[in-house]
Amino acid sequence: MGRKAKLAPSILNADFSRLKEEIKAVEPYSDFLHLDVMDGHFVPNITFGPMLVEAVSKITDVPIDCHLMIYNVPEWVESFAEAGADRLSFHIRSCRDVESVIRAIRALNVSPGLAVSPEDQLFELKPYLGMVDFVLVMSVYPGFGGQEMMPEMLKRVDVIKRDAAEVGADIEVEVDGGVKIENLDQVLDAGTDIVVVGSSIFKRDDVSAAAAQVKALLD
Ligand code: DX5
Ligand code: ZN
Repeated sequence: MGRKAKLAPSILNADFSRLKEEIKAVEPYSDFLHLDVMDGHFVPNITFGPMLVEAVSKITDVPIDCHLMIYNVPEWVESFAEAGADRLSFHIRSCRDVESVIRAIRALNVSPGLAVSPEDQLFELKPYLGMVDFVLVMSVYPGFGGQEMMPEMLKRVDVIKRDAAEVGADIEVEVDGGVKIENLDQVLDAGTDIVVVGSSIFKRDDVSAAAAQVKALLD
């Protein structure tokens, strides 16, 4: 069982009026910065687009892990790549030609990932496991930070890794949603490679100390 994992703070619940300071506070403890893009159609919330991704990429050297919760993914991948995304994940249910989107992302020198929501079936991922660098397992319904984790989703990490091994693919699995200090052990025991943490870092009084605390538990 893997016990070490990378940390990707999600800025969704950061104080956007002080976004630069918030990012600087977590930067020393961040392997990636997780940026949630929502279009108000694929999920019932709207966040931001490439402009903010670009603004963030200008103030940090931490690689940007961009999680697209949008329709019309093929139309947008180039903009997010140009904005500075280092990794782009999109939802398997968000577009018809998943394979060509994965190829388009890779052709832009960005690392492609596929995201699965709780209602998606894992067999749908199988044809693409040899093509992506990572799978993002949602442990809440996508759309909002601060929700309770659905612990049964953690079983998916191992299933995905075994399915990937069958096709000789070495992929990382990222868990996103409801991760907090109290359930971090469970998340690590599941074999998670990358842990997204939003409100449990940015809703704490001392954001920097919170990120340091989570990071220490992942190392
Ligand atoms: C939810 C987003 C998550 C969210 C995680 O749709 O994909 O990245 O920001 O936030 P917490 O850690 O608060 O659940
Ligand atoms: Zn996310």
